[in-house]
Amino acid sequence: MPHLAVNVDHIATIREARGIAEPDPVLAAGICELAGAEGIVVHLREDRRHIQDRDVRLLRRTVKTKLNLEMAAAKEIIEIALDIGPDMITLVPEKRKELTTEGGLDVIANEKKLKKTIARMRKARIPVSIFIDPDAEQIEAAREVGATFVELHTGRYCDATDEKQRDREFRLIEQSAELAFESGLRVNAGHGLDYRTTARVAALPTIEELSIGHAIISRAVLVGLDRAVREMLALVRG
Ligand code: PXP
Repeated sequence: MPHLAVNVDHIATIREARGIAEPDPVLAAGICELAGAEGIVVHLREDRRHIQDRDVRLLRRTVKTKLNLEMAAAKEIIEIALDIGPDMITLVPEKRKELTTEGGLDVIANEKKLKKTIARMRKARIPVSIFIDPDAEQIEAAREVGATFVELHTGRYCDATDEKQRDREFRLIEQSAELAFESGLRVNAGHGLDYRTTARVAALPTIEELSIGHAIISRAVLVGLDRAVREMLALVRG
């Protein structure tokens, strides 16, 4: 059974929409851990659109499970990661205009930069995962640059519009997980997983951890709304 790591970026997105201190992703991370999450994930983007440096620093001190810092292999962010020392990092591609991470990292095209980044992280004893599409060549390249983990991109499986396409995308993830594991890599998966698509991926024996954000946070908003309204009503009505 894989571990569940909860991505709390969206809590920070709501906070940044108001530009005030709440809701706090650090507090949210604690609640996720109390509920049984086995890891916390945050993406410190170069544009700082949601998670801020302060969040990562505080999370380093408060997370009791495992802090996985998602990041681009960019100089400024690498220095922050080395300074803060998360339990692991996940390297992702980053584009300024994207709404979320769109595709896996092209390890082959970024081989030199990735090797250098991984060597620096290794010196600091920070394991590195690379977020990749479920593709044999990318898996081989991830092994060659010295990654400890790959995180297989589940987006195309989750976004499939018919069952045939979903089965095809799932088989790709299944085969890729097996291939990565056989080549000595540790295997995580994530992106787009929700309450309908997760169980099938969670059943794959070689996957260690699932990284899930959007589905959990958006469900939390809806399942929590009833209680939040009742609590405000109690104040309004005295
Ligand atoms: N894994 C990676 C590499 C991501 O970039 C994201 C999104 O931040 C996730 C997992 C989580 O995706 P979702 O929010 O769709 O669950």
